[in-house]
Amino acid sequence: MGMNNMFDLYNIRSNFPIFNQPDLPPLVFLDNASTTQKPTQVLEAVNQFYCRYNANVHRGIYKIAEQATEAYESVRDKVAEFIGTADRRNIVFTKSTTESINLVAYSWARKFLKTGDEILVTEMEHHSNLVPWQLAAQHTGATLKYIPLNKSGSLDMSSPERYFTKNTKLVAISHQSNVLGTINSVKEIIGYARDVGAKTLIDGAQFVPHSKLDVQNLDCDFYVFSGHKMMGPTGVGILYGKADMLETMDPFLGGGDMILSVTMEKAIWNDIPYKFEAGTPNIAQVIGLGAAIDFMKNMNIDSIDSQVRMLTSTAVSRLREIKGLTVLGHENGIDSTSVISFFHKDIHPHDIAHLLDTFGISVRAGHHCAQPVMDKYDLSASVRVSFYVYNTIDEIEQLISGLQKTMEYFR
Ligand SMILES: Cc1ncc(COP(=O)(O)O)c(C=O)c1O
Repeated sequence: MGMNNMFDLYNIRSNFPIFNQPDLPPLVFLDNASTTQKPTQVLEAVNQFYCRYNANVHRGIYKIAEQATEAYESVRDKVAEFIGTADRRNIVFTKSTTESINLVAYSWARKFLKTGDEILVTEMEHHSNLVPWQLAAQHTGATLKYIPLNKSGSLDMSSPERYFTKNTKLVAISHQSNVLGTINSVKEIIGYARDVGAKTLIDGAQFVPHSKLDVQNLDCDFYVFSGHKMMGPTGVGILYGKADMLETMDPFLGGGDMILSVTMEKAIWNDIPYKFEAGTPNIAQVIGLGAAIDFMKNMNIDSIDSQVRMLTSTAVSRLREIKGLTVLGHENGIDSTSVISFFHKDIHPHDIAHLLDTFGISVRAGHHCAQPVMDKYDLSASVRVSFYVYNTIDEIEQLISGLQKTMEYFR
């Protein structure tokens, strides 16, 4: 069956070696918000690079160095097209979402913010989109303000004038929560930010793996995400930045590749995006990300989206049937998908996760690097399940029966 008809689920799963290990018990992997599994196509692209044309990029005169450079740079074009920009200078390769955010916090925020300025975040952020701003605020004298989270799982946008003021210089928000699965109305928020002259950074780590992104339509200044959460290798993050923003920023790291010329006294920066790619990049991993994007495009991103939504809504209903268990967020009318957090009134999340693991089911338990969200619900931890396109209804049933057995065990 061809890739266009990928929703023959066994066909999808057959592309993932980790789901096809005859000597190991079957893996029910429900921690996809943390990282995703890799298809053969991605592993093969990485392998081919190392076996057939391994060389450094942007330097060599010889054939395989040119081949490596071309393969690496073609992924920049692929990413640009994938997220809706025609300008390849907008795409900076970093090592992760976290590094992309830190890059902006160091190279933009520390350069341009001052005492009295405000950075607006939300109570829903991953620590990666919080701590870099706390550090930048300490360094510059700026202050952090928070758009509150409602217990229903959405942002409280009832009085935006309280948060978006003439002092707001940066709005940094997640496109989708990694705890609640809520998709925020980022277009509306970007509009409020623009009205007060603030810049915007959107953390799309959870959104991009299963949804169509159009950065030009959003009109944000920065957009960040990670390749490993969309079937690519670890070690590659993307920073999309508007060219005029990237131009005004100072380099983040200094070293090879990010300069045009160096004397004993000073260096002249390379053009964007290279100004922000110091040293040998993660060449193999970027090439692997290119294969992951091809894989997603072949499946069709809208089909990935609807498959993940179907799995999520099925799981929410099934989980809500279990007595003693509470699902966070996912209320009617709130756009949410892929991630579900829940807790049991008597059983600790870590105990649930450990027991599920004994049945071969991988789920996350903890604060999910988003302690302010947990605080909102007066919890120290929750259980989190998160789906990707290769998960199945049968796996949801295994989760439900695993939870029932867990409750029996602790009764
Ligand atoms: C919303 C969100 N932002 C940022 C990150 C950090 O991503 P990375 O660890 O790839 O830098 C994550 C990872 O879970 C996330 O879910």
